[in-house]
Amino acid sequence: MSIIGFIGSGNIGGTLARMAVAAGHDVVLSNRRGPDSLAGLVAELGPNARAATPAEAAEAGDLVVVTVPLHAYRAVPVAELRGKVVIDTDNYYPDRDGRIAELDDESTTTSELLQAHLPESRVVKAFNNIFFKHLPVLARPGGDPERSALAVAGDDEAAKRAAAAFIDSIGYDVHDVGPLAEGWRYQRDTAAYVPYFGSAPTGGPDFAAAPRRVTADRLEELLRAAKRYRDM
Ligand SMILES: NC(=O)c1ccc[n+]([C@@H]2O[C@H](COP(=O)([O-])OP(=O)(O)OC[C@H]3O[C@@H](n4cnc5c(N)ncnc54)[C@H](OP(=O)(O)O)[C@@H]3O)[C@@H](O)[C@H]2O)c1
Repeated sequence: MSIIGFIGSGNIGGTLARMAVAAGHDVVLSNRRGPDSLAGLVAELGPNARAATPAEAAEAGDLVVVTVPLHAYRAVPVAELRGKVVIDTDNYYPDRDGRIAELDDESTTTSELLQAHLPESRVVKAFNNIFFKHLPVLARPGGDPERSALAVAGDDEAAKRAAAAFIDSIGYDVHDVGPLAEGWRYQRDTAAYVPYFGSAPTGGPDFAAAPRRVTADRLEELLRAAKRYRDM
């Protein structure tokens, strides 16, 4: 079992922390407002959880999840994450994050931006294309025929294996999409973005419906069908 650090403890961070504790990991949570604001979540999670500053959570984690609004990525601690595996859940929403020129012209991708900010860390892109409420609902033990797969991308194979072991421990198979530069294939608005949603009669995602299983084969099909923003 590992210590999982969290930079960001909101919808995705809080959900993953609950799943990590249920799987037997320890968690160190952090956010923007400070440890006191996380007292409720820590109390809910029990003795395997504590709250800290982002630098402390980065330092404590065997593996660290960065899960903040993308506009805050430059605030992610650098020195404390040196040499570590960093899972990046962040997505680019210009209305929330402001315009980021190198994402708009598609000369880079969100996780490559974080990797450039953390040059000595090993970034793995994961959990970007699943709605946080679906994460605990679709989780299944290893070998369960109804298990779903989650996409990972990264430039460091050992880091991807470490991320995969964590993802497996909380209930998902892993589908390797390749290097970080391929991460655009499951970015916002692509075919492989939030495929776990049931479809509403209008064709859009149905927030009320139960999520649906996505196998690695189905994910691969959607990833291959993904289009660049410029080709949409
Ligand atoms: N929601 C989803 O279903 C979903 C799914 C896949 C990917 N994502 C992506 O994952 C990321 C997190 O999403 P979310 O829905 O979990 O967001 P959220 O609920 O708004 O939580 C964001 C967290 O980041 C923290 N934060 C903000 N600025 C920070 C900073 N400078 N230093 C440390 N922590 C900081 C916030 O702290 P405070 O509360 O103190 O401000 C909060 O704990 C986003 O990039 C999102 O696009 C979301």
